[in-house]
Amino acid sequence: MEARWVVRPGPPLSGCVRVSGATKNAGLKQMAAALLVPGVTVLRNIPPVADLDVMIDLLRAIGAEVEWGGPEELRIDATGPLWPEAPYELVSRMRASINVLGPLLARCGEARVAMPGGDNIGSRKLDMHFRGLEAMGAELEVVHGFIEARTNVLAGARVVLEFPSVGATENLLTAAVLAKGQTVIENAAREPEITDLAAFLNRTGARVIGAGTSTIEVEGVDELVPVESELMGDRVEAGTLLMACGMAGGEISVEGTRLEHLEMVVLKLAEMGMRVSPTPDGLWARAEGRLDAVDVATLPYPGFPTDFMPMAVSVLSVADGTAIVTENVFDNRFTFVDELNRMGADVRTEGRHAVVRGVPRLSGAPVRALDVRAGAALVLAGLAADGETTVFDCHHVARGYVDLPGKLRALGADVEAVPAG
Ligand code: UD1
Repeated sequence: MEARWVVRPGPPLSGCVRVSGATKNAGLKQMAAALLVPGVTVLRNIPPVADLDVMIDLLRAIGAEVEWGGPEELRIDATGPLWPEAPYELVSRMRASINVLGPLLARCGEARVAMPGGDNIGSRKLDMHFRGLEAMGAELEVVHGFIEARTNVLAGARVVLEFPSVGATENLLTAAVLAKGQTVIENAAREPEITDLAAFLNRTGARVIGAGTSTIEVEGVDELVPVESELMGDRVEAGTLLMACGMAGGEISVEGTRLEHLEMVVLKLAEMGMRVSPTPDGLWARAEGRLDAVDVATLPYPGFPTDFMPMAVSVLSVADGTAIVTENVFDNRFTFVDELNRMGADVRTEGRHAVVRGVPRLSGAPVRALDVRAGAALVLAGLAADGETTVFDCHHVARGYVDLPGKLRALGADVEAVPAG
């Protein structure tokens, strides 16, 4: 029998948990950025999730030495020599591999990176990465499934992104820190993970201003120096736990996060009838009775994050009333809805929209996690379902969460991780 998570309904949640470091959305990107720095970069508060092992293998394939300095501390020695090639076997397992493109071009003047795979949530193009790097003087082409990029001199440029893409902003930012002259990224992504990446780069001696706003200015420097740095708390994990409270009811505290990182999620939960307020080191939340249906539309940060959309559909599936959920960031992120409907939810999708008619309770069923956040949504659904919900393919969820079952258990939920066998 394959590994699975078993969720049973329990009492309202109560207690306090601390979120882990944001390995998936911030840590993997900073690991890639460490390729810019000759010497030993130390990253702290970077707990292992499955994707992190892939990034370690990728950095090693490129020629960096990577080792654990402690349970949540990684030491990355990118002194070199570096072999600027990201092989298909690794890139196809983790989309964040594309983040080595900018650093390798900046450090080595060339890069050969397999075209990425990753979550199955719609077409994820790279045209903005390409256009931005070309504006900085790189030549890029796709040959036999590999991106081949080279440049004599990477030069600062003004780049206007068509859409505030997180990946493109990260690749351009990490290329720009060692480029000659000034780079300006307009319509840049504003996610807190971008701010965290820029803060890391600035500690190494980079000159980045404006991260967290739509205009990022980078003054290129000749060399970066190794530093010790700590990752931000995982805002998606924090929001997942708040939504779990919305599903199961109860009163919880989540430490290690900030209201500013979750403003739109908190606003929506409050509209649904939850009470959420900041604490000195995180958030407090209470949910009583059935929540109200509200419409949700995903947008680039600070809009409602696409990462939370599947979980929002779960919460709304048992809310009082009908909600329309619109996914504006990815083309194909509603495939998990069929699984949720097998649990008795009433969700219909049409293109980018889902109509969610709230039912009083779901009914536990065997279901399959299709990607990391869709899997988390099914775990949450199990909290509001009669009987037992078994989530198969839970390794997808483990790609982004550190022990989600354990964290939910710490709040009193009945979630069991059953190993394969
Ligand atoms: C996206 C999310 C990010 C989330 C992550 C994991 C947004 C804006 N980004 O980041 O918050 O943490 O998924 O789920 O919500 N695109 C292009 N051309 C490009 C680059 C992107 O068309 O060159 C399109 C993509 O196909 C997609 C959209 O832009 O529809 C968002 O892409 P991007 O922000 O780069 O995706 P991620 O970095 O994966």
